[in-house]
Amino acid sequence: MTTRMDDRSVAQRVLDHIANRTTDVGQSVWREPVANYRSEARLVAEIEKVLKRSPTPFCPSAALPEAGSYVAREAAGTPLVVVRGTDGKVRAFRNACRHRGMQVAGGSGCSKAFVCRYHGWTYNLEGRLRHIPHEDGFPGFDKEAHPLVPVTAREHLGLVFVTQSESLPGDESLDQLDELIGPDQRVFATAERDFEVNWKILLESFIEGYHIKSTHPESFLPYGFDNLNVIDLFGRNSRVTYPFQRIKKLAKIPPQKRRVEGLLTYVYQLFPNVLITVLSRHTNVVILEPLAIDRTRQITYTLTNGGGGDDPAALAEARRDAEFVGTTGAAEDRAVVQAIQRGLGSGANEAFTFGKFESAIVHFHQTLTAALERS
Ligand code: FES
Ligand SMILES: [Fe+2]
Repeated sequence: MTTRMDDRSVAQRVLDHIANRTTDVGQSVWREPVANYRSEARLVAEIEKVLKRSPTPFCPSAALPEAGSYVAREAAGTPLVVVRGTDGKVRAFRNACRHRGMQVAGGSGCSKAFVCRYHGWTYNLEGRLRHIPHEDGFPGFDKEAHPLVPVTAREHLGLVFVTQSESLPGDESLDQLDELIGPDQRVFATAERDFEVNWKILLESFIEGYHIKSTHPESFLPYGFDNLNVIDLFGRNSRVTYPFQRIKKLAKIPPQKRRVEGLLTYVYQLFPNVLITVLSRHTNVVILEPLAIDRTRQITYTLTNGGGGDDPAALAEARRDAEFVGTTGAAEDRAVVQAIQRGLGSGANEAFTFGKFESAIVHFHQTLTAALERS
């Protein structure tokens, strides 16, 4: 992680903004055509040329705690299953049986093998086809040549990244990051919810603090600040820091002794469609899976922040924290994004304008546009 992004630098940048009544500002303003949220062709291009070709976080490593742990779901429209093998390695496969294409796994769980529900063809955790019932009905069929079809998977930063097809040029900025999810963080809730909203409108709502006063006057504003953020862009990604009022107490603490835990929220946007929100007592890994131009599945993994290991008190605190953020503030954001979606066809706007306080969104659109043009 660059020095500018470390906790102490961020604390200093926040304190300076509080003292000077300023916030981080971007270089430029961006005009994003409204048609880009409404066009089927654009969504197909985003999925085929960007989502499938980017190393994308599929789930936290902690969602696969032991050998045989698996998660099956669609990523960029492709059914995948990701599983931890007996060797501890995580592998990803296209979730389709080599007989007649039935999905070999659903949801999540722990299993010694994948047994296709249709006719019982059985694959081991490395994807090899090990058993065909009544195999004599398939004369000459080569089991070895029909494993589950693998997809590139890599564990990094406490996340499982999956790349479906030949990837865009590498983004080394992720290699410079510290671990995002530590080994003592535990998944204590997972949720899937569909919203009638374009995936980019949903994403935009996470990565600017210019809306805090208007949208969250009673939920977040009393604890936080109006339009006071530290914004870091790295590679294709970004991180927006939302400080709490209580961070002011750090002004009295020598810089080298300052700790920011519980004093701010970090929201990482990992290009293209993943958000990691590090809150006071819990962390969310949020994956936005586009289903249609106006429909998005939000998959959320909620984890403890670590340090507490399996301590029940730490878990209870994490649950309370998650409930507060998930009910009040999130409902306010949901109401806004749904209203934006309903108004997309109003004809009022040819383009939306993202200003200098919304620089993480500007960076996202610049990056997405460049990725679409390159491929
Ligand atoms: S489709 Fe899987 S065993 Fe037939
Ligand atoms: Fe919000």
